[in-house]
Amino acid sequence: MADINYWYFAIPVASVAVIYLIRRIRVWQWGRIRNRYSLAGKTYIVTGANTGIGFETTKALVNRDATVIMACRSIERADKAIGAIRKHTIKGTMIACHLDLATFESIVDFVQNIKENYPNFNCLINNAGLATPDSKQTTADGIELHFGTNHLGHFLLTKLLQDQIQANRARVVVVSSLLHQRGRIDFATLGKCVEPQGVISKANNLLYNSSKLANFYHARELYKRGFDAHVLCPGLCHTDFFRDYNPRWYHYIMFAPVVWLLLRSAEQGSENVVFCATDNVNTDEKNPATGYFVRNLKQTKSKTQFDDKIGTRLWTESEKFCSTILLREMGKIE
Ligand SMILES: NC(=O)c1ccc[n+]([C@@H]2O[C@H](COP(=O)([O-])OP(=O)(O)OC[C@H]3O[C@@H](n4cnc5c(N)ncnc54)[C@H](OP(=O)(O)O)[C@@H]3O)[C@@H](O)[C@H]2O)c1
Repeated sequence: MADINYWYFAIPVASVAVIYLIRRIRVWQWGRIRNRYSLAGKTYIVTGANTGIGFETTKALVNRDATVIMACRSIERADKAIGAIRKHTIKGTMIACHLDLATFESIVDFVQNIKENYPNFNCLINNAGLATPDSKQTTADGIELHFGTNHLGHFLLTKLLQDQIQANRARVVVVSSLLHQRGRIDFATLGKCVEPQGVISKANNLLYNSSKLANFYHARELYKRGFDAHVLCPGLCHTDFFRDYNPRWYHYIMFAPVVWLLLRSAEQGSENVVFCATDNVNTDEKNPATGYFVRNLKQTKSKTQFDDKIGTRLWTESEKFCSTILLREMGKIE
């Protein structure tokens, strides 16, 4: 009988075991919320709640008896999401409201709805976001789509709700990304559809990264102005986020091992959002203004050297982009 070379079996089995072990360690490093106290009586506004991280955030909050206002650009998709969550839990309350962050007038209508019907909310979660390889797309108001939706839409929303946020001492949670570290704020091209040579690619979308840096600056400025602001990265998550990138079948095979080691589920990523909305504590040392953001349920120092002058100027420039709306809705600009 021929000798069996056991190495042919041992090597693949050992490789799979090592990968499995690394994955287990990573899942442990990502952390898990321990607190499960009831959120009955609390109201959360979640933008982009119909899918991905926003959907899982909504599910986790209602599972703890909260009321969630699901701010979505499609009521049909929001209703579908409510149906899907209702298959898991009968707890809490979900209310679908229309909000398109890429249209100033839609934001105004949404704010009006909140002021009239749900003025006592406890937390605003600025989660919705997108990335597209097409750098020429704009919002309905003619602003470059990443900056216009991810930053400016949420900036205007927060600004128009600021009286309620202050009166309710409500928390503001900003979903940024680790990729803010690769962004830059260029005031010469802010909000414009100009594509610096070679800068935008499928792998490195500077427009997206910069919008996430703008998110971080927004949280910093809010915190510095006395708001209970929290900023986070959910980690690389398996969601609908890459829908515009049309991955090919061989991409799945090529990147499968890396993805399997690094990729979180939307539910695992949402833990960071729920943690910021319910448990995270900012201290004098660790807060958005000192460059700390929540990652893996821990306050983590960003590598970005934040500049206070850029933060203040970004705030002023953002106000200018929506000045017509702000003048009309608020009567004056701060
Ligand atoms: N996934 C990741 O790996 C990752 C990593 C770091 C940070 N993030 C951040 O996490 C957040 C959530 O992303 P995700 O991964 O959950 O992506 P997703 O599955 O694509 O969900 C994005 C949500 O944003 C909504 N949205 C997009 N444009 C909108 C607009 N104009 N008005 C209102 N809602 C709009 C989408 O609505 P529709 O369904 O109608 O399009 C969807 O509900 C984003 O801010 C993203 O930058 C994600």
